[in-house]
Amino acid sequence: MLDIQNIGVAYGQRRIIESLTVEGLAAGTVTCLLGPNGSGKSTLLKALAGLNKIAPGSSIRLDGQELSRASFETRARQVVYVPQALPAAVHLRVFESVLVAANASLPGQRAGGVDVPTVQSLLERLGVGHLSLRYIDELSGGQKQLVGLAQALIRKPRLLLLDEPLSALDLNYQFHVMDLLSQETRENGLVTIIVLHDLNIALRHADYALMIRQGDLFAHGSPSAVITPHALAQVYGVRARVEPCSRGVPQVMIDGLEAHVG
Ligand SMILES: Nc1ncnc2c1ncn2[C@@H]1O[C@H](COP(=O)(O)OP(=O)(O)OP(=O)(O)O)[C@@H](O)[C@H]1O
Ligand SMILES: [Mg+2]
Repeated sequence: MLDIQNIGVAYGQRRIIESLTVEGLAAGTVTCLLGPNGSGKSTLLKALAGLNKIAPGSSIRLDGQELSRASFETRARQVVYVPQALPAAVHLRVFESVLVAANASLPGQRAGGVDVPTVQSLLERLGVGHLSLRYIDELSGGQKQLVGLAQALIRKPRLLLLDEPLSALDLNYQFHVMDLLSQETRENGLVTIIVLHDLNIALRHADYALMIRQGDLFAHGSPSAVITPHALAQVYGVRARVEPCSRGVPQVMIDGLEAHVG
């Protein structure tokens, strides 16, 4: 369970997130973090990952434990963050890079039980088993993104933070990855937070949604309760309909622009 209370984040003098509270993000659920460009999604995710300083009085509790007071090792073991822009790829084979990631959670120690077959089976589940002997710096953007997900999942965190993990993926991999993330989240009791721009994917795959506007929480709840024509007008400045498809899954359709908000 993740509880965020009164979290504030600033870059220098510029406050991006004033005071945001979201409580009770349950283990085993996927939460999508939605909002326009520049609204503070990555800023919030980095704060949860411990990479952005949080204001005094902010609290981030994972299973009741205050993360900002946890040791570096505890935090590194429990929280995995995959950034929006993947760092420049190193000249390592795919399976080596995933093994290195497994060990990164436990500096100075061997990762218990993470061996080549475990890595290979995770790569197979992600649909990139055939890439395991290739060098990362010779992969396509989408292939790198899938390897980044393997590096995150092998670490078996309690809190998994993914910033636009689908941005380079084709339709087939987008669906496959969301399915796999839901399954991993449920089976291993993770708290998973995913920044998404595709609202239809959020409606189809997420258990819970947070929508932010200019660093404030505009709405939270089930994706279909959060993604409404009213919210899309207020937060994104678009005129939109949300209507069930022939199978009953709600879909967003954009009819025009209201104004640029953001
Ligand atoms: N390192 C930084 N230093 C100063 N300002 C920053 C920094 N990173 C982001 N910002 C500013 O903070 C605000 C929120 O940025 P953030 O990256 O969190 O947005 P976002 O919601 O992730 O947007 P996008 O959908 O474009 O990724 C923006 O105004 C941005 O210019
Ligand atoms: Mg971002």
